[in-house]
Amino acid sequence: MAEWTGWEERVRLMVRPRRYEHVLRVAELAAQIALANGLDDMRAYAAGILHDIARDLPDAELLRLAPPECEIDAGHPLALHGRAARVLLERWGYHDQVVLEAVEDHTTGPRGGNRVAACVYIADVSEPGRGVNADIRELALRDLNAALERAIVSKVTYLQGRGIPVHPRTLQAYHSLPFAAPRVQPPPRPPRL
Ligand SMILES: [Fe+2]
Repeated sequence: MAEWTGWEERVRLMVRPRRYEHVLRVAELAAQIALANGLDDMRAYAAGILHDIARDLPDAELLRLAPPECEIDAGHPLALHGRAARVLLERWGYHDQVVLEAVEDHTTGPRGGNRVAACVYIADVSEPGRGVNADIRELALRDLNAALERAIVSKVTYLQGRGIPVHPRTLQAYHSLPFAAPRVQPPPRPPRL
């Protein structure tokens, strides 16, 4: 069984009250998605409970816990809160690598085929309190890979369409997707003269 018992109270004390409500919804939904896809729902619940443990820390603390790896991290330390959460949990003696990886990658996207991380990532972007991405939530309850593909592709497309740099770890997540369809459409042929 994943080690999670008792962590709710610690998380509750680390985040703002509204964030804690989000955390509980993410944990519940991540567990539901895991169960629907034949995965370990206890681990998904644990990762959901722990994912935002560093989310309300000051920027200076995030930068100290997780030194920036790229310009996006340096300019937007909030991007570090997944990595910072993992560092904190490891310091506190948390060992479950599947859960730790899911916590680390929840901000930028699961990179290495960790399906529990996919459950948490999807639950985080689509829990009902967000009021968006209901389609991704429903899809995840039937087909986790398809939901992950939709979530990551739409994030990358959205950012690139607006000229906003994509985090290198999100690009890694994008390139590790088990794509069902060709990811790049060939450019249209020029018209015949
Ligand atoms: Fe988060």
